[in-house]
Amino acid sequence: MKTVQVDLAARSYPIFIGDNLYNNIALWGHFIKSKQVLIVTNDTVAPLYLAQLESCLSAYNVANVILPDGEQFKTLESVNSIFEKLLILQFGRNATIIALGGGVIGDMAGFAAACYQRGIAFIQIPTTLLAQVDSSVGGKTGVNHVLGKNMIGAFYQPQCVIADTEVLRTLDDRQLSAGLAEVIKYGLIRDLAFFEWLEANMAALLARDKSALAFAIERSCLNKAQVVTEDEFESGVRATLNLGHTFGHAIETGTGYGTYLHGEAVAIGTCLAADASRVKGWLTDAEVTRIERIFKAAQLPITPPPEMQVSRFLDLMAVDKKNVDGDIRLILLKKIGEAALPMTADRTSLAQTLENYGRIRTI
Ligand code: NAD
Ligand code: GLY
Repeated sequence: MKTVQVDLAARSYPIFIGDNLYNNIALWGHFIKSKQVLIVTNDTVAPLYLAQLESCLSAYNVANVILPDGEQFKTLESVNSIFEKLLILQFGRNATIIALGGGVIGDMAGFAAACYQRGIAFIQIPTTLLAQVDSSVGGKTGVNHVLGKNMIGAFYQPQCVIADTEVLRTLDDRQLSAGLAEVIKYGLIRDLAFFEWLEANMAALLARDKSALAFAIERSCLNKAQVVTEDEFESGVRATLNLGHTFGHAIETGTGYGTYLHGEAVAIGTCLAADASRVKGWLTDAEVTRIERIFKAAQLPITPPPEMQVSRFLDLMAVDKKNVDGDIRLILLKKIGEAALPMTADRTSLAQTLENYGRIRTI
C-alpha cells in the first residue's frame, strides 16, 4: 500500500492507495467520527460493493442512500435526498458520510457533508479511476446546474481517501479511458517525466496491469496533492488542473450531461487547448500531434461533436468559474509539462481553434 498525504494544516488527510482497502476498517475506521454513518452510493455501485462495506461497518449505526446513476442526476435534488435521509435518521453533527462511487457520487456526498448542519465529516471511497486520481482529492464538491457544469458547490476536504485498485476490475473500458484523460493532464501541466512514462506504458494501463495502474494513481495523487497544498482555494496554480476543462465543460453541458463522459470531454478539450497554445506560439505542430496521439492511444476522442458550433462553444464557455468580468479565461500549455496560469482568451484566436477542429484530424 502507498500513502500520499495532502498537507493542509488542520484539514490535512491521507490518500491510501492499494488493493483491498475499502473493506479494511483497521486502516481507516478511526476516521469515522461517531456511531452514525451514512453511505452514499448509486444503483450501479451498490450491488457491487455496498453489502461488503456495510458488513465491515457492523459496529456502527449504518444507513445508506442509493441515488440513480448518471451525471444527469448530479443535482440539488439528489443532494436533497441525502439531507432528507440524514434528517429522518436524526443524524447529528458528528455523523460521517461515506462516498462510495465515482466522481458524481463523491462530489454530491461531499457537498451534502459540507452543508449538513454546516459541515460533517466525510470519507471518500472513489471507485472509478477518474475519481481516484482527481475528484476525490482536493475538496471540490458540488452539483451541476442546467445552465452550467459544477456551478453550485463548496470547497470541503474529506477525512481520508481510500483508492482501492481492486474495485477498478469491474469498471468498463470506456470509464477506464475517461480516467486516463485526467492522468494525462498531470503529465501535461507539470510532470514531463510522467507524460513520457505514460507514452511508454499506455498499453499496460489499458490492459489494467496492476503495478502500472498503482503507479499512475500514486503519481497523479502526488501531483494533485502538491497543487492543492499550494493553492487550496484556487487563487492561482490550482486553476491549471482545469486544462481542457473550459472546452470540456461546454461539451458536457452542450450535448446534455451524460452524453460525453467527463474524461472524454476533457480529452477533446485538452486537444483544443493544445491547439490554442499552438496559435499562441507556444506549442509546435509536432507537440500538438504528440498530445493528440497520447489521447488516441488511451482510446479517447480528440475532436468535438459536430453539433457543437463555434457560437455554441463560446456561449457555454462564457459560464465558467475561471472567467473574470465576463472574459473567457483558458489554461494553455507553454510546453509539454508546463501549464500557464489562466489567461484571457482572444476571441478571434479562440474561434480559429474551434474552426480548426471542425476538420477531420488525421494522425
Ligand atoms: P461517474 O461517477 O459517473 O462514474 C462513472 C460510471 O462508472 C458510473 O456509471 C458509475 O456508476 C460507474 N462505476 C463507478 N465505480 C464503478 C466500479 N468500480 N465498477 C463498475 N462501475 C463503476 O464518473 P467519474 O468519471 O467517476 O466522475 C466524473 C465526475 O467527477 C463529473 O461529474 C466531474 O465533474 C467530477 N469531477 C470532479 C472533480 C473534483 O475535483 N471534484 C474532478 C474531476 C471530475
Ligand atoms: N479537478 C480540478 C481541481 O480539483 O481543482
